[in-house]
Amino acid sequence: MHILDIADNSTRAGATHIRIIVNESKMRDTLAVTIADNGSGMDEETKMKARDPFFTTKTVRKIGLGIPLIEQAAKAAGGEFSIESEKGKGTCVTATFKLSHIDRQPLGRLVETIITLIAGNPTVDFSYSCESDTGKYELNTQEVREALEDVPINNPEVLSFIKKSMQEGLREIKMDL
Ligand SMILES: Nc1ncnc2c1ncn2[C@@H]1O[C@H](COP(=O)(O)OP(=O)(O)OP(=O)(O)O)[C@@H](O)[C@H]1O
Ligand SMILES: [Mg+2]
Repeated sequence: MHILDIADNSTRAGATHIRIIVNESKMRDTLAVTIADNGSGMDEETKMKARDPFFTTKTVRKIGLGIPLIEQAAKAAGGEFSIESEKGKGTCVTATFKLSHIDRQPLGRLVETIITLIAGNPTVDFSYSCESDTGKYELNTQEVREALEDVPINNPEVLSFIKKSMQEGLREIKMDL
């Protein structure tokens, strides 16, 4: 859910490329999630305020919880949280968690999360990298789109193909899903 929230911020910031990196290491007892985009970015002041639950640039309501919630989840699980952002360049959000921490939230349905993002944002390029102690799985929707030629990436058969290949890839590197 956090990944969906943070990537949603990226698409709202006009990003055309979103990079999602999940790194799970039992050896180091860490889980790290990074979401980087080439969207509008934030100036220093907005970047500071973004961590305040009562700050949002949405006009529909007065609170913005995406960032405060992931920050709180990371800190509750012995981890850290950071935002790097530059106006006009993009934003990079990183949350780390102590893997074995009793309060660490489960990684959840990672494959479904990514499929949901692709389906909902067919013109955005997503690159995913999932790394464990045993290996790395990568997916780049730009490459998929090139191979597809005229077929849209959110075609149900294409999505189900991507889903299967992700599930296989993550199983191969023994990511706990
Ligand atoms: N990737 C990003 N690029 C540019 N601005 C961002 C980005 N992420 C967050 N922001 C800014 O920080 C604000 C706070 O983000 P946050 O996700 O916490 O709340 P929200 O998106 O406003 O509301 P919610 O996530 O609860 O629907 C956003 O309104 C936006 O102005
Ligand atoms: Mg948000």
